[in-house]
Amino acid sequence: MKKNSWVILLLILISIGSYAQIPNRGCGTHVPTTQYDSLFQQKIIDYLNTTTAASRVQSTFQIPVIFHIIHGGQAIGTYPNINQAQLNSQIQVLNDDYSGIGFNTGTYPATAFQAYATNTAVAAASKDGLGRIGISNTGISFCLALKDSLGNVLPEPGIERRNWNSISGATNPSSAATAANLTTLMDNIIKPATIWSPNKYLNIWVTDVAAAVGLLGYATFPPLSGLTGISGAGTATTDGLWCWAKACGSQNIFASGVYSAPYNYGRTLTHEISHYLGIRHVWGDISCGNDFCNDTPAEQAGTNGSPTYPYLPNICTVTVPPTGPEGVMFMNFADYTDDAFMYMFTEDQKTRMQTAMTNSPYRNQLGTHGFCSPTATIQAGFSLSATIINQGQSVNITDLSTASNAITSWNYVCVASTPSLSALQNPTLTFNTAGIHTISLTVTAAGLNSIH
Ligand code: ARG
Ligand code: ZN
Repeated sequence: MKKNSWVILLLILISIGSYAQIPNRGCGTHVPTTQYDSLFQQKIIDYLNTTTAASRVQSTFQIPVIFHIIHGGQAIGTYPNINQAQLNSQIQVLNDDYSGIGFNTGTYPATAFQAYATNTAVAAASKDGLGRIGISNTGISFCLALKDSLGNVLPEPGIERRNWNSISGATNPSSAATAANLTTLMDNIIKPATIWSPNKYLNIWVTDVAAAVGLLGYATFPPLSGLTGISGAGTATTDGLWCWAKACGSQNIFASGVYSAPYNYGRTLTHEISHYLGIRHVWGDISCGNDFCNDTPAEQAGTNGSPTYPYLPNICTVTVPPTGPEGVMFMNFADYTDDAFMYMFTEDQKTRMQTAMTNSPYRNQLGTHGFCSPTATIQAGFSLSATIINQGQSVNITDLSTASNAITSWNYVCVASTPSLSALQNPTLTFNTAGIHTISLTVTAAGLNSIH
């Protein structure tokens, strides 16, 4: 008897503790209008009509990311001024998740959604070799931007650190008491003051937040060509995402970062970026609503926590197709499940995201400015074993050239007399005529060259 009451007391304490630390579920991302939804459907039809299935499989889109870390003067590495390694881990999560090989994809049940997949509304392309709804490789990848838009190399790849005290009109993000206050501060003050061209970068703002706000992240939807002024779609001053600093990055990859379980595997940004690429919540934001993807079973509301498959069989009966005997796809990134339990996108979701990448004015130029490629550097140089020698004697040359890419050729020439001396990297040269000889070296690496 005594033992039982101890157990009960302990459970209560644990639940109070985690309630205080972790925001409640909720999504600050606006629900798009029906006008937006129907235009998006038209853009998908256009995309499917102007591409082939094979080209869609082969498509590769690369998105340069700039994280705006909004801090209050903390040292780099001290929350919320999180360090580079935590953000590196986030990029790795995104690249794994968007190619369908992320954390826990191996737990996808062997017979997942096979019955649901037999519905005529489910396209053949949505099924994998086992007849399941397949885990999609979206063809979309991410990099930390290596340069600003003037081409200057960033001191920390993909990072701009800003103290909110020096942003005109800003208050501390952690003082915002409600989700509305936070999104107003971000969208009206902090984002406009710090945004980088949304045509060129995916902007992600990272801040501290009060637990009562109940948000892990929120996103803007892709503006569509031919449609302006849509609530929820990104604008020149707001396009991009906001994320709580403790929900960025993965504890699996960079263990010594600052995280908050169960949102500690980087899936908040996987989820928010999917909205940024046009993905709707799997339940369609109303009970048994439409997410415009036939390969995601309908559900009544977002799934929280850590469910087990099959979860909520046949829950929506009025939808076409109805939810199957395997229940809802709580493992989809467009649900609200804990980070460890969400690990997939579907083919229909991939088509939506590729459509956004191809069509949206703030998406269709991403990856075309060279911000993901390192700046190539090359510098020719050499030293001589002696600078004064007797006639007929030789001198050893040691190559000291450096380059970001492998050097493929060396050419030593005697500037005043014999044009070519040697094409070896470290030649030994003999001089038979007396006088002053000036030696020049040209090295070449992957299309670059430099003379010393
Ligand atoms: N906008 C949602 C929220 O703030 C994001 C949910 C992300 N889910 C996750 N497991 N990280 O709640
Ligand atoms: Zn959401």
